[in-house]
Amino acid sequence: MRVLVVGSGGREHALVEALAQSPQAEEIFAAPGNPGMAGLAELVDIPADDIIGLRNFARVASIDLTVVGPESPLVGGIAEAFWEAGLKVFGPSRAAARIEGSKVFAKEVMRHAGVPTARSEAFDLERAALDYLRGFPPGGDAYPVVVKVDGLAAGKGVKVAYSYEEAEDAIHAAFSGAFGAAGERVLIEEHMTGKEASVFALTDGRSILPFVPAQDYKRIYDGDEGPNTGGMGAYSPTMWMDSATYATVLEEIITPTVHQLALIGAPFTGLLYAGVMMTLEGPKAVEFNCRFGDPETQALLPRMRTDLLDLLAACAEEDLGGREISWSAEKAVCVVLASEGYPESASEGDEILGLDEVAGMAGVRVYHAATRQENGVFYTAGGRVLNIVGTGSSIMEARARAYAAVEIIDFPGKQYRSDIALEALEMEEL
Ligand code: AMP
Ligand code: GLY
Repeated sequence: MRVLVVGSGGREHALVEALAQSPQAEEIFAAPGNPGMAGLAELVDIPADDIIGLRNFARVASIDLTVVGPESPLVGGIAEAFWEAGLKVFGPSRAAARIEGSKVFAKEVMRHAGVPTARSEAFDLERAALDYLRGFPPGGDAYPVVVKVDGLAAGKGVKVAYSYEEAEDAIHAAFSGAFGAAGERVLIEEHMTGKEASVFALTDGRSILPFVPAQDYKRIYDGDEGPNTGGMGAYSPTMWMDSATYATVLEEIITPTVHQLALIGAPFTGLLYAGVMMTLEGPKAVEFNCRFGDPETQALLPRMRTDLLDLLAACAEEDLGGREISWSAEKAVCVVLASEGYPESASEGDEILGLDEVAGMAGVRVYHAATRQENGVFYTAGGRVLNIVGTGSSIMEARARAYAAVEIIDFPGKQYRSDIALEALEMEEL
């Protein structure tokens, strides 16, 4: 098979690596890809959002399967564009991708499907949102409340407001126009507390093939301090989630959502990602994404023993029934190296040292994200620069391997969390 992977992050590097291992993979292309994957895939200079450009390339290059990494082309309708041209694509239709593209739509789906989630109200006028907020007077026990813009906002559209004033400011910011069409509607949501996990499932709209859960680390600093980011690290499996809880997540969150989307004529074919929170009342859905998570994918795919290309092609052909995914007993820990200023800004053009040195280390993989290569030298090119993944027979080993490589790789202003998978290490020692 000739395969095109759309996207340029660490997630796409991990996808390319796993797809390249398939005996069915003839040639892999990545658009636009990144220099770290250049040995595995031919890089094609087309941005991930250029749906027509990608479709033309897939036609001319006789691509058998296109695998879409990021949400934005999916929400933009890349699947329909490819289907119209008779091209096979892994990823949901625009209608199904709304589960990520519109938080108001996702809440509607969850309500009809009976999925446990935070109570929320949607508003399309700032005045109406502020009126509603007046029902929660300053100092009352309603706080914190969560204010969210409806549409895609690159992780910046969610604000946890701890006071009336903060909520007022958040509503004002959400409707300010800064979020474009994504901010035309705004949700005010009940705040939940509990541990979060990422649960992925492949689905062709009928059959559901769950992954093992993974743990994401969203905040920039150790101890979950500081602002939210795209994700600063991950590990798999999520040791604290027992199999009964996991079964509940599949039964109460994933399965009804897949069925509800099919029922409303928007069957989901692709990877459904549920962000779930373990509240005192049981697991609840925080959000859905219509794609693989980043960096969770980097901590999951190195453990997958099933042919990923075979699975994704079967999913695109709506033929997942009867399949299974097998996982290695190994553990995987992924640490993200981010550039100075991330997530508010990102420094670029700093030379990255040590990549050659870690290339031969046992149980270490380096997935590139925002890097650039010039005359054999790698430079930083954005916020999340590299993903260092350690694998091993225990979390202790996987973690030690990842952090040994993290220490070697260097660039000015390098930021990383030193507590990725620390909780799992503590559990392992019990
Ligand atoms: P979302 O984009 O909806 O996943 O929100 C991003 C992050 O904000 C989540 O991963 C949570 O950590 C946090 N968050 C979102 N909604 C809530 C909520 N209702 N209660 C508590 N935290 C939330
Ligand atoms: N790691 C969070 C996400 O992919 O949205």
